[in-house]
Amino acid sequence: MLIQKMTFPDLDKVATLYQDANSFAKKKDIFEWTKEGLMKFPNFNLVYKKNEKIIGAISAILLSKGKVEINDIAIQKKYRGQTIGSKLLKRLIKEFKKEGIKKITLWVHWSNARAIPFYYKLKFQIKKCTKTSNIDNVPNGEDIICLEQIIQP
Ligand SMILES: CC(C)(COP(=O)(O)OP(=O)(O)OC[C@H]1O[C@@H](n2cnc3c(N)ncnc32)[C@H](O)[C@@H]1OP(=O)(O)O)[C@@H](O)C(=O)NCCC(=O)NCCS
Repeated sequence: MLIQKMTFPDLDKVATLYQDANSFAKKKDIFEWTKEGLMKFPNFNLVYKKNEKIIGAISAILLSKGKVEINDIAIQKKYRGQTIGSKLLKRLIKEFKKEGIKKITLWVHWSNARAIPFYYKLKFQIKKCTKTSNIDNVPNGEDIICLEQIIQP
């Protein structure tokens, strides 16, 4: 098993995995936003491989100086609950530290609320709850929860 930087040929499989983290988005749109993130921030996109096959992935983007947002994380269903998600997130946080990032945010849609304890174990806390409004590919009025971590040096 191996954590590697994501590459462009990985995108099709990654977009399939990320569908589980984006109940409203089409695979094509997930593919496009992940590709754009990978082009701009190659160090913030990782995959987890087992026997050469991708079974997990994580992607983040830089929002402003010192501030990043995790856009997506997903592990193939049969491998969940085996610490793969934690390993990917911890590795990404290492990358953030190298780049001098101070704050990480992410949004959890109500349908993925099961992921909230996962983030808490990795030192995230709930910042606020709001409703979606004018977000590409997402209907308005959906409950979403913002989590945040201030990175300790
Ligand atoms: C959330 C997710 C990335 C966590 O990765 P993982 O490898 O399963 O997580 P770990 O094994 O490191 O940690 C397990 C914890 O994750 C949480 N978790 C959330 N969904 C889970 C699932 N479907 N199966 C198992 N654990 C899950 C639990 O808190 C669990 O802790 P517990 O075992 O004490 O109950 C993964 O379960 C997943 O891909 N879920 C679907 C996509 C998703 O919701 N992404 C996040 C969108 S914001």
